[in-house]
Amino acid sequence: MRTSSVKYDEPQNTPDDYLLFNIVYCSQMRPGLGLTDVDAIVATSHRRNPILGITGLLTFGSEIFFQWIEGPKLEVLDLIKLIETDNRHENMVILSSDEEVRERIFPNWDMELVSADDIKEVLNDALRTARERGSIDALKLLLAKVERH
Ligand SMILES: Cc1cc2nc3c(=O)[nH]c(=O)nc-3n(C[C@H](O)[C@H](O)[C@H](O)COP(=O)(O)O)c2cc1C
Repeated sequence: MRTSSVKYDEPQNTPDDYLLFNIVYCSQMRPGLGLTDVDAIVATSHRRNPILGITGLLTFGSEIFFQWIEGPKLEVLDLIKLIETDNRHENMVILSSDEEVRERIFPNWDMELVSADDIKEVLNDALRTARERGSIDALKLLLAKVERH
C-alpha cells in the first residue's frame, strides 16, 4: 500500500502563483475630455498600483476604455469602487470577474496603456508565452471580448 502523501500530478505553484482576482470592464470617456486626461489616469495608476500589488492593462480608443485589472481581491475591489465613481468616464460595464490561483498575465505592467490598434497583438503575445491553463483561458476570454467590442 502506498502511504506517500505527495501528489506528483498536482501543479507545483511557484512563489508568484497565488489567488489572483481579476476584473474586466469597459466604459465611455466623458465628453469633452482627451488624451491629457488619459495620461493623468495612467500616471495615477503607475503611482498607486505597485503599492496595491495590482497589474493590468488599459486600452483606450474611440472614446472607449477597456481595462483588465489583476491583483489581491480586496485591493482590486477597493480600486474598482474608486474607478466606478470617477467622473472622467461613464456607462461602466463589468464584463467579467474571476478569482483563481495562477500566474499574473501582465506581471511587469503596473497599468500599461495599450492603443486599441495594438490590443489584439498584445493579448496574442501574452497567449504565446502563457504557461498555465488558467492564464491561457483568461487570455482567450479577453481576446473574444476585444473582438466583440
Ligand atoms: C478608466 C479609468 C481607469 C483607472 N485605472 C486606475 C488604476 O488602474 N489605478 C488607480 O490607482 N487609479 C485608476 N483610476 C483612477 C481612479 O479612479 C482614482 O481617481 C484614483 O485611484 C485616485 O487616486 P488619488 O486619490 O491618489 O488621486 C482610473 C480611472 C479611470 C477613469
